[in-house]
Amino acid sequence: MTQKPILLNAFDMLVPVHQTPGLWRHPESRVADYTRLSYWTDVARTLEDAGFASLFLADVPGVYDVYGGSGAAANKGGVQVPLLDPLVVVPAMAAVTESLGFGVTASVTYEQPYLLARTFSTLDHFTDGRVAWNIVTSYQDSAARNLGMAGQIPHDERYDRADEYMEVMYKLFEGSFEPDAVRADAEANVFVDPEKVHDIGHEGQYFSVPGQALASPGPQRTPLLFQAGSSSRGQRFALDHAEAIFLSGGTPQLVRGWVDGIRDGLEERGRPRDAVKIFTLATIVVADTDEEAQARLDDYRPYVDTESALALFGGWTGVDLSGADPDSPLEYVKTEANHSALAAFTTLAGGKTWTVRDLAEFVAIGGRGPVIVGSPATVVDELERWMDEADIDGFNVSAAVRPADLERFGRYVTPELRRRGVLAEAQVGQTVRERITGHGPWLADDHQGAGYRVGSEAGTRE
Ligand SMILES: Cc1cc2nc3c(=O)[nH]c(=O)nc-3n(C[C@H](O)[C@H](O)[C@H](O)COP(=O)(O)O)c2cc1C
Repeated sequence: MTQKPILLNAFDMLVPVHQTPGLWRHPESRVADYTRLSYWTDVARTLEDAGFASLFLADVPGVYDVYGGSGAAANKGGVQVPLLDPLVVVPAMAAVTESLGFGVTASVTYEQPYLLARTFSTLDHFTDGRVAWNIVTSYQDSAARNLGMAGQIPHDERYDRADEYMEVMYKLFEGSFEPDAVRADAEANVFVDPEKVHDIGHEGQYFSVPGQALASPGPQRTPLLFQAGSSSRGQRFALDHAEAIFLSGGTPQLVRGWVDGIRDGLEERGRPRDAVKIFTLATIVVADTDEEAQARLDDYRPYVDTESALALFGGWTGVDLSGADPDSPLEYVKTEANHSALAAFTTLAGGKTWTVRDLAEFVAIGGRGPVIVGSPATVVDELERWMDEADIDGFNVSAAVRPADLERFGRYVTPELRRRGVLAEAQVGQTVRERITGHGPWLADDHQGAGYRVGSEAGTRE
């Protein structure tokens, strides 16, 4: 069916429950070990062997405390808490792999750009250009309260501020150290040529960063940029900055609507319709036969924890469903949290009415994406159908039972993808940008960040 090679990205988080509340209790789950470094180095090896281009590590800077007005349900269910720092685990995973990329989430609302630029440059060096940044503006009041604010910055303003944040980052990554600034020339006694390092002189509405970058840029200069905004303001931000976009929706038709919007938006900006790679969330339950895979999914269901699912949903949307009648229909309410998560089950639900109970059961396995169940052939047929009908470039694969479903993906699905010749495979020494975009290691020339480059060797490395 599909002609485009399928890009694989794994979607995970340093928590007991990422997308599948309750499933940490399944006998095959090893997620209780997520605080051990070896858990994550094993996951990295598994993904590299399975042909994944990258591992996307989600992160939120706060506890989900909307459900019932406290963090009790989230704590009890291990719902994205206790949460370890994803930036810290990357070098260990890079040390045991050669081609796997690492997409790490960091919030532009709560991190200082000057220090975050140094962190990403450090990771870009230590991973040989395999780090990507999932840019988020965050959506939790609890994060705002614990990070020195009275409440969240309003939704659209978060993105306005994020635009300026990105300008600062491009200046630090692209416009401070010229590409040949670091000479390490012992004879001339020059480590860095001071003529080739520049203060960025940024003075804006939200940020003031007059000086030079602390770290010299890594192989990619700016790390590969991921984004997942789905509201109209979030999509505009993604079009302005992202090189790869994550979506999540239950049907190819729902996702297709967002994809068309993204591709039209690129065209309006004079960029090719495929200038940005688009991934959508999918949870895969696979076994030798369709019947065995279905039996596996049936075996997962009793472990679902619907209260934890509603705690997760409350965190995403800012809507507390704790007192709601399970059979009452969901309604759209505008909050300062994530706009698209609630819209997917209300205004964008294609006429379907979702009750609170339906929602909890749906979200509990696979979050806001589809659960694809079957034999390797059935799963790959379905992945190919999504590629065509949603016009996407690949999948953000999430595991229901962790890490067993990722291991099973490698054991069952990858050989079938390879047999059909539809898996986008790694080439030795590639940066994650080369692997995912198919272009050079640096930002494309038509990306706004490239406009901040300095120095005579500042052209694109194709
Ligand atoms: C697959 C996927 C992963 C996401 N991961 C994170 C994350 O790790 N941290 C975070 O704060 N937001 C995350 N988000 C939320 C988005 O950044 C964004 O806030 C959300 O899609 C809502 O869009 P909007 O902000 O434009 O309303 C994710 C969204 C999607 C679809």
